[in-house]
Amino acid sequence: MAKSTRTPLISGNWKMHHNHFEAIQTVQKLAYLLHKDDYEVVDVSVHPPFTDIRSVQTVLEADDTPISIGAQHCYIEEKGAFTGEVSPAMLAKLNVEYVIAGHSERREIFGETDDLINKKVQAILKWGMTPILCCGETLEEREAGGTDEKVSGQVRAGLAGLTPEQVGGLVIAYEPIWAIGTGRTATADDAQATCKVVRDVVAEVAGADAAASVRIQYGGSVKPSNAAELMAQPDIDGALVGGASLVAEDFAGIVQFRQNS
Ligand code: PGA
Repeated sequence: MAKSTRTPLISGNWKMHHNHFEAIQTVQKLAYLLHKDDYEVVDVSVHPPFTDIRSVQTVLEADDTPISIGAQHCYIEEKGAFTGEVSPAMLAKLNVEYVIAGHSERREIFGETDDLINKKVQAILKWGMTPILCCGETLEEREAGGTDEKVSGQVRAGLAGLTPEQVGGLVIAYEPIWAIGTGRTATADDAQATCKVVRDVVAEVAGADAAASVRIQYGGSVKPSNAAELMAQPDIDGALVGGASLVAEDFAGIVQFRQNS
């Protein structure tokens, strides 16, 4: 399976950090640090809080900066009485390209279920955006040998009802929960092994073509110093970056992982 056919996607998940002024500064710095050579070989997205998206869009579009705008979450309906929620249609209107679905923090803190996440994936696709479907195991699950089962189950549930073409265009992020924000990264071998499990599940549910084109990100304490080794793995096609994406220099260092390989 030739990895070169899958352009790596490096995504910055800012979580609940940066107000819109800080967001503008961060993307301006990022635009300064990244160059044409980078965008030719790597796709880049930033996922600010909702309140920043319009400002980030304005900055990126004014300068024609080829960084995609992402969101961290959305609801499944187009509009209606859903106090506090943001619809996929609203995000599409802001030229959002990627929406994270089923991040472990949404699952654990906000009780999102596999079923809701599947509906969210479908809603994101319906509005012409690309879901980044997240999966990953807890430390207890890993220690009990349950990683493959947990991750396979989440991926299967998240992809239910999708066509092979839709699955092939998706991004799936494997993020071991014990590695998120902890400074602990899965070894490149372990990350590769689980990303391979994800690709095998995709092959099983959507066929070989979808498995060859779906992009699988690794996430969990990715830094400039470990990005190159992770990205060199055959089934890792990008990174979902939390903490290190808040600082433009660090995130740029990850996007430019080729320079450390
Ligand atoms: P981290 O977060 O890079 O801070 O570990 C990753 C994520 O939760 O997407």
